Amino acid sequence: MARIIAIANQKGGVGKTTTCVNLAASLAATQRQVLLVDMDPQGNATMGCGVNKMELENTVCEALLGEATVADTIVSAPEAGFSVLPGNEDLTLAEVNLLQEIGREMKLKKALAPVADLYDFILIDCPPSINMLTVNALTAADGVLIPMQCEYYALEGLSSLLRTIEQVRESVNQNLEVYGILRTMFDPRINLSNEVSMQLIEYFDRKVFRTVVPRNVRLAEAPSFGLPILLHDRSSRGAIAYLALAGEVLRREDERMAEAV
Ligand SMILES: Nc1ncnc2c1ncn2[C@@H]1O[C@H](COP(=O)(O)OP(=O)(O)OP(=O)(O)O)[C@@H](O)[C@H]1O
Ligand SMILES: [Mg+2]
Repeated sequence: MARIIAIANQKGGVGKTTTCVNLAASLAATQRQVLLVDMDPQGNATMGCGVNKMELENTVCEALLGEATVADTIVSAPEAGFSVLPGNEDLTLAEVNLLQEIGREMKLKKALAPVADLYDFILIDCPPSINMLTVNALTAADGVLIPMQCEYYALEGLSSLLRTIEQVRESVNQNLEVYGILRTMFDPRINLSNEVSMQLIEYFDRKVFRTVVPRNVRLAEAPSFGLPILLHDRSSRGAIAYLALAGEVLRREDERMAEAV
């Protein structure tokens, strides 16, 4: 059964999509079976994997509305060695239509169920808002990975995400947990970054990943080639950080399995 991780933060531009694409590629590089699900109408993760969001027959929109199966919708990231359930602006339509449906929070979870056994990890890229698409992702997920930029307003937005996670846990998904906090676009020369980083560790303790993703121009340019950083420049600091993050995720999973027996 796949471990399902939603990558969420309603603040825009904090590195959700970059983390989703590059963690997927790094896990795939360790021979794990990975599915990336693009729940953002912007379709950035889809494009970042080298899949053209304008030329799709089916998208996660049809899968959510029951008009296509997930199996018929999945495509493969051409060079990166993982699968993609692509998304594009049709998702805006799905969001509106879902509002009228019964069991509307459960649609993604139900759609993924038939394929969940085929993967070790399913990573879901969320839009920069807390809407029905994000709630569907949180309902389907075992955990939420929260990318954060260590800057002044970073913590402010966090409380409403944590509240939503709590609400989803209380209503439809008891097992949902904060999987981890990831510091992104980090610049250690900025004092404030170090201060916010310390605050995060104080509050979230071991939930904060040790891996820190540095600000790295190679990470920013990789999507324009439709490639994860591993295929764009595998010796860059960005590539090394996302490989380290995959290593941490795998260690956490090993520990969890050890605790379960
Ligand atoms: N570590 C990094 N170093 C440099 N640039 C980065 C880094 N991480 C992300 N970026 C760039 O910052 C921008 C925002 O990143 P990204 O798209 O991953 O954020 P997001 O949270 O998914 O945004 P949105 O909320 O719009 O979905 C992008 O242009 C991306 O290429
Ligand atoms: Mg994004």
